[in-house]
Amino acid sequence: MAAEKILMLGANGQIGTVLARALREKFGVESVITSDLREPDQQSGPHEILNVLDSDGLKSLIDKYQVTQIYHLAAILSARGEKDPMNTWKINMDGLMNVLNAGVEKKITRVFYPSTIAIFGPSTPKKMTPQESSFIPTTVYGISKLAAENWCNYYHKRYGLDVRSVRYPGVVGWQSEAGGGTTDYAVEIFHEALKHKKYTCFLEADTRLPMIYMDDCIRATVELMDAESDKLTVRTSYNLAGMSFTPAELASEIKKHIPGFEIQYVPDFRQAIAASWSESIDDSIARKDWDWKPEFDLERLTKDMLDHLR
Ligand code: SER
Repeated sequence: MAAEKILMLGANGQIGTVLARALREKFGVESVITSDLREPDQQSGPHEILNVLDSDGLKSLIDKYQVTQIYHLAAILSARGEKDPMNTWKINMDGLMNVLNAGVEKKITRVFYPSTIAIFGPSTPKKMTPQESSFIPTTVYGISKLAAENWCNYYHKRYGLDVRSVRYPGVVGWQSEAGGGTTDYAVEIFHEALKHKKYTCFLEADTRLPMIYMDDCIRATVELMDAESDKLTVRTSYNLAGMSFTPAELASEIKKHIPGFEIQYVPDFRQAIAASWSESIDDSIARKDWDWKPEFDLERLTKDMLDHLR
């Protein structure tokens, strides 16, 4: 463990910002090299400018820092991805293939790759969605992540590359902004509630989606990456559950802390995306294989968000 050198791609995003800090606490500041298209807002350790489409640039960073593990977080998410499907496909797929190929060539010992609830579609069972089922995604982001899961599995089987992945639900946290996703409302609502005591939601009141608090999201990622390889029976991507709630339920929980808070609903194109996803997830395989267990429910999430943002 002592000699791990971690390279994180797409580290300026909602999850990367927080995950990089957690990994730096665990492995040491200099053992985690973050990278993104730009400098981070707040530098917490070594950072490099890297476009995930630049496979030579990626390989030379691996050599420069003698990288042993890669966390590949760079992607265009569900809502933004629909604005330019071909570009989304290119960034999401070519970025992954560059990582997988560099991983094999440079003998990277572990790779982390995030998948998503966006791989689910209208034909997928909505409640307690099982690990394997009918997955026909409606967004190019979902299509790319579903293909990516299969590529991860393929590289593990064919080349022995130790790729690990979870299907993240919508992630809610106070530390960073969400960007380009359909679940972003659940982060924005807190900022607006504190600033203006009101929020206009782009999803309908009763749209139930699987969500996870940032603390659980980070812990799931770290625990999966710490697990012994032979315990992992899923090499596509693990179902992962935190909690499930609707905008109306979240709003009423916020109202308990901010009594005058008001929400109105003006659904846009993101409503159809959300409606094609699951309401809840069966993550029993993650629980069995690497002892996954979420800690945050809606009540605790709401209180913790408000405590920190205040
Ligand atoms: N949070 C993501 C999105 O909304 C789902 O992975 O696009």
